[in-house]
Amino acid sequence: MKTTLFRTTLIAAAAAVLSTAAFAQAGGKLKVGLMLPYTGTFAALGNAIENGFKLYLAEQGGKIAGREVEFIKVDDESDPSKATDNVNKLVKRDNVDVLVGTVHSGVAMAMAKVAKESGTLLIVPNAGADAVTGAMCAPNIFRSSFSNWQPGYAMGEVMAKKGIKRVATITWKYAAGDESVRGFKEAFEKGGGTVVKELNLPFPNVEFQALLTDIAATKPDAVFTFFAGGGAVKFVKDYAAAGLKKTIPLYGSGFLTDGTLEAQGADAEGLFTALHYADSLDTPKDKSFRLAYAKAYKLQPDVYAVQGYDAAQILGIGLKAVNGDVSKKAEFARAVEAAKIDSPRGAFSLSKAHNPVQDIYLRQVNGKENKLVGIASKSLTDPARGCKM
Ligand code: PHB
Repeated sequence: MKTTLFRTTLIAAAAAVLSTAAFAQAGGKLKVGLMLPYTGTFAALGNAIENGFKLYLAEQGGKIAGREVEFIKVDDESDPSKATDNVNKLVKRDNVDVLVGTVHSGVAMAMAKVAKESGTLLIVPNAGADAVTGAMCAPNIFRSSFSNWQPGYAMGEVMAKKGIKRVATITWKYAAGDESVRGFKEAFEKGGGTVVKELNLPFPNVEFQALLTDIAATKPDAVFTFFAGGGAVKFVKDYAAAGLKKTIPLYGSGFLTDGTLEAQGADAEGLFTALHYADSLDTPKDKSFRLAYAKAYKLQPDVYAVQGYDAAQILGIGLKAVNGDVSKKAEFARAVEAAKIDSPRGAFSLSKAHNPVQDIYLRQVNGKENKLVGIASKSLTDPARGCKM
């Protein structure tokens, strides 16, 4: 009797120690590795993502699934050559619970490789690299943004339906540019159009002059482009200054005019773009998000702010399902896969490959806004080519 009691007490004590350890792990600060560009052509995008992420956190009283959050920030400079070292520092030295990043597709692919190998949770709040939810897809990798294919494909459909026949494309020579153009071409040529010229320059160069001269000589019906951030500002201004805006209509994936309109001014007026967000959606969720964002940061939100906010929402949904215990990866994934994410862009869910299934809007620049024109492509799902999951 005595020994049984003693043994039971011992077992209970051991269980208490174990659950205290588990609680300490689950209940301590959640380490979030924020790997974003804070310098260079995408600096404003990185800041907007961080703002959006922190806005959601503030709405949750500063905690996610009961855990306070500690941020460990790295400026990735949108430089793929530094990406593996940067992400390894966060995973191996700082032991982060979750990686959130980044903007640049090449840097994001390095992050996805490390996440896949180490099993660390990764939420991508912008970079569209098709491979992240394609050939590199993994149960612990999620994206709150888009695939490069998505806005490109939607714009290809729109332009083909408008009856445009001959298009020249111009972009940076790296995954995001290549894949946006590929998505565009797939839909545009399916709809009867032809891409007559594909122009490129290295990322993040902005010496557009020779390429603009080539466009003028080629005389296509229209131009399709992918540029973003500081490069998009300069491209839109140079396109207008070269006198092309009046003669050869410019179309793009919506990054061309998102977060950039203050700086582009009248040179962006009237441009049509396709993206999973617009400035005049007029839904209750979007209105409250925009008000809260403007109040917190004295800035208007853009697509990047929305993606940062939704990255935090995805983390919140997954972590709540596992009571803050990031080691429960399968349960985390199941909860996120089943969720409808209440985004300012409109509610969306994730595909099997963990990329948003979402409406792509057609927008037109009107003053300082990307005004909603209509839906370019309803519930567009990335084909997730090469994903085995
Ligand atoms: C990308 O590199 O994937 C990228 C960068 C900036 C954007 C969109 C995509 O605005």
